[in-house]
Amino acid sequence: MEIQWNQIHDLAKEAMKKAYAPYSKFPVGVAALVDDGRYISGCNVENASTGLGLCAECSLVSDLARTGGGRLIAVVCVGGDGNFLAPCGRCRQLLFEHGGKEALLMTPDGPQKMIDMLPWAFGPDDLK
Ligand code: THU
Repeated sequence: MEIQWNQIHDLAKEAMKKAYAPYSKFPVGVAALVDDGRYISGCNVENASTGLGLCAECSLVSDLARTGGGRLIAVVCVGGDGNFLAPCGRCRQLLFEHGGKEALLMTPDGPQKMIDMLPWAFGPDDLK
């Protein structure tokens, strides 16, 4: 499947504008291409109870499930400036669960495989 990185990036920037980040003032948006060809996205949603804030990737995997599931093929995460942002460790774990080793994550150095972004990842196979 051809990956339209610009389209995914545009969706991530659009999602970032919907972020609810009044505490950190650090909006994050993320978007992805799913293996059936559809696009999904998410933004961070913070909370007055600081530790309860949801990262944009939480919102993304929720959107994935809500709209029919499937596997992540290509993911773009951006900060408030619209530039590629490296997802936090916890969020790499969320992306790994739904995309596996071969899913691609855009970085300033170009697309990287999830297994290179989260080496020796713990995942569903470890529970077998
Ligand atoms: N954040 C994300 O949404 N995703 C990441 O991968 C990194 C951090 C959010 C959490 C918090 O709302 C804000 O960015 C500042 O840490």
